[in-house]
Amino acid sequence: MKILFATSEIAPWVKTGGLGEVAGTLPAALRFHGVDVRVLVPAYPDLLQHFPDAREIAQPHRLGGLLPTPTLREAVSPDGTPLLLVDYPPYYHRPGNPYLGPEGRDWLDNHLRFGLLSRVAAWLGSQENTLAWRPDIVHCNDWQTGLAPVYLSYLPGRSAKSLFTLHNLAFQGLFDHASLFELGLPDAAWGIDGVEFYGYLSFLKAGLQHANAITTVSPTYAREIQTDAEGMGMGGLLRHRGDRLSGILNGIDTRVWNPATDRYLHQTYSVRRLEAKAANKTALQAQLGLEPRGDVPLLGVVSRLTEQKGLDLLLEAAPQALKLPAQIVVLGSGSPELQHAWGAVAHKHRGQCAVTIGFDEALAHRIEAAADIFVMPSRFEPCGLNQMYSLRYGTPPVVRATGGLADTVVDAADEKHGNGFVFGPATAEGLLQALQRAAAAWHDPERWRKLQKRGMARDSSWEAAASRYVELYQAL
Ligand code: ADP
Ligand code: GLC
Repeated sequence: MKILFATSEIAPWVKTGGLGEVAGTLPAALRFHGVDVRVLVPAYPDLLQHFPDAREIAQPHRLGGLLPTPTLREAVSPDGTPLLLVDYPPYYHRPGNPYLGPEGRDWLDNHLRFGLLSRVAAWLGSQENTLAWRPDIVHCNDWQTGLAPVYLSYLPGRSAKSLFTLHNLAFQGLFDHASLFELGLPDAAWGIDGVEFYGYLSFLKAGLQHANAITTVSPTYAREIQTDAEGMGMGGLLRHRGDRLSGILNGIDTRVWNPATDRYLHQTYSVRRLEAKAANKTALQAQLGLEPRGDVPLLGVVSRLTEQKGLDLLLEAAPQALKLPAQIVVLGSGSPELQHAWGAVAHKHRGQCAVTIGFDEALAHRIEAAADIFVMPSRFEPCGLNQMYSLRYGTPPVVRATGGLADTVVDAADEKHGNGFVFGPATAEGLLQALQRAAAAWHDPERWRKLQKRGMARDSSWEAAASRYVELYQAL
């Protein structure tokens, strides 16, 4: 079975969040199941730097509209996964994040940049493909590859089937009507059954509408997005396509996220040497200028600072949470308002609250290990990876009951299966109550150990998910 996995980011080279993590790990798990999977991704400078010998294998041309002719290059990742890099320097050789310019605003030509990625995916999956390798299925991920199923449906001859995996409904890839022509799509593609979404062209809707099957990254999120309340305008469409939609819970990279071998940690530990975890807290407190206290719980956050992640709720609850007493450490970047507000809290409560603005892989690992309690009060969360890391690191999470958080965290009230703390409505009070319960449990070492051990024993590998994807590929 030949699968083209199309993505706009891939860890460890180019990652802004969970999508990059998934693209960096799921393909290897699929290969383990005997699937011939190749990953299609733009040739960003960070990738070309790592694969300077990536050799040219094709020049897909006459792609339509204003789309240029890129060079397709091939490389092999260290885990053995073949990578197909779409090289077109004017589009992808830009500094920083794949989506944003230096001022933090979307690049104005993102429709062309990711239209080209989608179009090359379709080129590979159609009879235009001049290579010996042609995929049976094009597996798309999020809006950046959402046009591939549309292109496939318009290309002549027998084409690959398409699967669209939705990692986040909030990013819809909206562009104006004129981009239809620039992307080389026919007028017939416009309209309510096509790519049009409230007067805009939506890459996301295009994918959801045209893919042969749709998955999202947790069973609960798959149900939530079919409602008007949580469907972000796509609820009707997703209900309509409900028989084609399923939820497959993500795994994590259990080699990279393993407290027994994690090289970023001050002190490694395991479920049998759990007492060694504490050295990580002491080291982080020293590193970030927090008071060296062992008698108060340390609350940890690693997150994009956006509305989705509910960190405004924690901000509101922070003065009271600090009085539990507790310490708070935050690593994140995103909305300027939230960055500013968190900076102010850290300033006011110096020694008790430390905030680092930025993207820092090493610090993310250290926080997972050093914190006693991990906090993830997301308003919505398609899957969420950090709560799975924290379970594995013996750092019980406090989460809101939504999406993948609801599918991975069981409240401590369940004495047999509890591995964290879950709260309902997205309010600061709800969060604070859960934090109070967590802090109380933390002060009861015997009870806490049990919670930690249950979390650490959870199987977060890609094994189960990979089997589900293989079944779905076969069905297609
Ligand atoms: P999302 O993809 O919505 O941001 P996930 O929980 O699925 O949420 O994945 C986030 C990923 O990005 C995790 O691997 C997390 O560790 C990482 N991450 C998020 N923010 C930062 C940051 N500021 N520094 C380092 N890693 C981060
Ligand atoms: C998105 C979601 C996150 C999910 C990740 C990987 O970024 O916000 O919940 O874990 O994709 O699927």
